[in-house]
Amino acid sequence: MTDTAADLSTLVAAACAEIAESQNVEQLEAIRVRLLGKKGEITARLKALGSMDPETRRVAGAKINEAKEKLQTAIEERRAQLEEELLARQLASETVDVTLPGRGQRIGGLHPVTRVRRRIEQIFKSAGFQIADGPEIEDDWHNFEALNIPANHPARAMHDTFYFPDGRLLRTHTSPVQVRVMERQKPPVRVIVPGRVYRCDSDMTHTPMFHQVEGLVVDEGISFANLKAILHSFMRALFEKDVKMRLRPSYFPFTEPSAEVDISCVSCGGSGCRVCKNTGWVEVAGCGVVHPNVLRAVGIDTERYTGYAFGMGIDRLTMLRYNVNDIRMYFENDLRFLRQFA
Ligand code: PHE
Repeated sequence: MTDTAADLSTLVAAACAEIAESQNVEQLEAIRVRLLGKKGEITARLKALGSMDPETRRVAGAKINEAKEKLQTAIEERRAQLEEELLARQLASETVDVTLPGRGQRIGGLHPVTRVRRRIEQIFKSAGFQIADGPEIEDDWHNFEALNIPANHPARAMHDTFYFPDGRLLRTHTSPVQVRVMERQKPPVRVIVPGRVYRCDSDMTHTPMFHQVEGLVVDEGISFANLKAILHSFMRALFEKDVKMRLRPSYFPFTEPSAEVDISCVSCGGSGCRVCKNTGWVEVAGCGVVHPNVLRAVGIDTERYTGYAFGMGIDRLTMLRYNVNDIRMYFENDLRFLRQFA
């Protein structure tokens, strides 16, 4: 055995031992580069063959190639082993125990405003009212003109209307549906109209979109007393409390006489708190006897029929029912807030 041959078999033996001991693919790759890479030990020997005489080269060449193949095989075998071990470790650590109980699906809940809206609908249905609706994109006639609010009427300024370029608008209240209902239905009329309304306004108690519920009753012999009675029973039913109610004279172009509806503060019972700004009362609705001009606009005989109407803020009633003092909470859709009502 030549020196070179002895030297080569020592190298192969040492390298094989090292390969067998390598702990991961990176270590193994470093060994491969050191032996078989461009500047590797085996590669260097192969290069050195060029300067040998043909006979020596033939013998040495065969030996070196044999060593090279041996190392390559050893490396490939070890690589396969390491990869298998890695996979086994991954499988062990990432194993899914399919027998564990599931994470649990939470059942969704109704939005608090929806809950109160449904409650309002239920109460009025039980009093013989029907539920009507109308478009959120309205025309000037229904939102204003037919409600006795002609162009340039100062009441228009109070409405902070969102207008479309073509003159249509986002309804500023549910009152236009009064007109739409009476256009298609002769008295007796007994409806409530829950829905979204829009005003260019935003702070702790106002959002650009909010909810109202309109009420309209038109029949023979309808009076302000009927209005007062229905509203008071409604408030007591909604809050499940013996709330007091008072009416303050007010003005709406589409009702005459008109009133603002206050109820005794449901938060403090009337003794005074933040919710009622220490007055003991909270405003919850506007109402009145339907103005003859409104009935005339839809061709209803004002000698025979009279009516009452009211409009209340559903969001405001929801705030009172759940004691929430910032209306914007209802529209941020923070699940931590909403889940409390589910
Ligand atoms: N539409 C009025 C508002 O938005 C409320 C209202 C409705 C008042 C019906 C009287 C009668 O403020």
